[in-house]
Amino acid sequence: MKFPLITIEKVVFGGEGLGRLPDGKIVFVPYVAPGEKVKVEIVKEFQDYAWANLVEVIENSPFRREPLCEYYFTCGGCQLQHLNYEYQLQLKKEIFLDTFRRVGWKEEIPLELVFPSPKEFFYRNKLRLHVENNPLKMGFVKRRSHEVLPIKFCYLAERKLNYVLKSLYEHPIWLKISNYSKRLNLEFSPEEDKTVLIFWSMLPPLEEDLEELSKIPELKAIFYWMRGRRPEGPFPKNSSYGGRRVFKGINQLTYYIQPGVFVQTNWEINLEIAKTFKKWIPEYRKVLDLHSGMGNFLFSLIDKGDRFLGVDTDLRAIEDALYILSKLNLNGRIDFRNISAHEALHEALKTEETFDLVILDPPRGGCKEILKLLSEVAEKYILYVSCDPPTLARDLLILKKLGYQLIKLALFDMFPQTYHLEVLSLLQKG
Ligand SMILES: C[S@@+](CC[C@H](N)C(=O)[O-])C[C@H]1O[C@@H](n2cnc3c(N)ncnc32)[C@H](O)[C@@H]1O
Repeated sequence: MKFPLITIEKVVFGGEGLGRLPDGKIVFVPYVAPGEKVKVEIVKEFQDYAWANLVEVIENSPFRREPLCEYYFTCGGCQLQHLNYEYQLQLKKEIFLDTFRRVGWKEEIPLELVFPSPKEFFYRNKLRLHVENNPLKMGFVKRRSHEVLPIKFCYLAERKLNYVLKSLYEHPIWLKISNYSKRLNLEFSPEEDKTVLIFWSMLPPLEEDLEELSKIPELKAIFYWMRGRRPEGPFPKNSSYGGRRVFKGINQLTYYIQPGVFVQTNWEINLEIAKTFKKWIPEYRKVLDLHSGMGNFLFSLIDKGDRFLGVDTDLRAIEDALYILSKLNLNGRIDFRNISAHEALHEALKTEETFDLVILDPPRGGCKEILKLLSEVAEKYILYVSCDPPTLARDLLILKKLGYQLIKLALFDMFPQTYHLEVLSLLQKG
């Protein structure tokens, strides 16, 4: 059958719909919703499943809508824009629970909250784009491909990032220097309502070109990265805070962050995560943050407690944490070190130091390799922040075997229109 007709059973992690071909084989189709009857075209067959493209929707989901973005059906960035936002949240919850069960989580999941994003669009504070030349293309990789799709506007990105993107397409200096670039980031500084441009370059650009380019009204500063541990910049040289982006946190905190250093994508949701864990853990004395970055979560806890240690392998994130710290008066209660989570746990064991609260916020792959050591250092609470439910579920099962109970869990929609979400979980020893 050229275009088999299938019914979508559910949407799975990754955002694609799952259905079955007439012979029972599982097939994954993008841009669909549970319950829909759709005509598909098989594009790749594997032993146990197949990939298909959507040809026609025969029976529509009541939650389907027209996507805003002209690139939606080609771009790899969004997967759920064809569904209304309320329903996206419901789907993400279902996908999350399904993922946990498939990884082997049998007990009830103490899910407290599904927190929607205050902004459905224009929430991203960073755009990371591939660059190609002749003609200039700046864009994302197409879905199921390595090909760059040039974009002139992204509905997920802060408006100022879009203004700068548009200006770059038309700027004679960028048309010249982008010939030596393969990648760029546009990073928003909300407290200044300006954007920082950082690009990866194969040749050093002329300083006067960068000074001229930095006159784009929405730009705060430009950096370029050729080699080594840090980029060149800022241009102009007198850019405020060394070209750092400025964010307001909870408790009147101000964060100053160098371009290229990790910042949670949706800052409003990030603040809600901080408020939630502060409610969850009323008392703590000693806190260890094993993936502290520039101190995002650790600083939001400092209104109480005696000792705080943040560690991260990114040297520039730790520089930012120390820079932020230098503007606060905390009487030596907080320290940041450029070491790995593993090294920090080894040192704690050597000095027989324990912490009543340990924060984990690892990259997507999770952190199963440190959990055994962690169980000897984390005396009472573990707060695990994750953007990857499958690895989180795996790590929580390990922590359960090591004697920690999962007591609360909340989902935060850090990434509307996509299948991604942020999970906050609290574990207690005993
Ligand atoms: C998802 S980011 C979170 C950063 C920070 N918690 C925040 O909210 O901004 C993960 C961080 O883990 C750091 N990281 C990666 N591997 C690490 C390791 N083995 N030990 C310590 N930090 C690590 C990265 O440099 C990055 O800053």
